[in-house]
Amino acid sequence: MAKLIVTDRGGEERSIEAAGGTSVMEIIRDNGFDELLALCGGCCSCATCHVYVDNMADKLPTISEDESDLLDSSDHRTERSRLSCQITFDDSLDGLKVTIAPED
Ligand code: FES
Repeated sequence: MAKLIVTDRGGEERSIEAAGGTSVMEIIRDNGFDELLALCGGCCSCATCHVYVDNMADKLPTISEDESDLLDSSDHRTERSRLSCQITFDDSLDGLKVTIAPED
């Protein structure tokens, strides 16, 4: 188990113990953050799983062209933006902090 720290849109931070092998999106969604819609279920086609990565960005997989194109459709993209369904969580990401991006 490793720790994922999530800040919601209200600024409340919560620490979640999560097993590896699932996406950051699934961990957030399955822990009751209903503001993360994840409408496409992780197929990289909706951008409603948009988060800001607050630390450890260098440990994440490189952003794909599809992910980058989708993030371009958001008015809230920053250099810290990622689609949480495209990040597989594992023990090497213990302590990862993400903030749920504003709704588009
Ligand atoms: S859940 Fe749709 S792009 Fe991530």
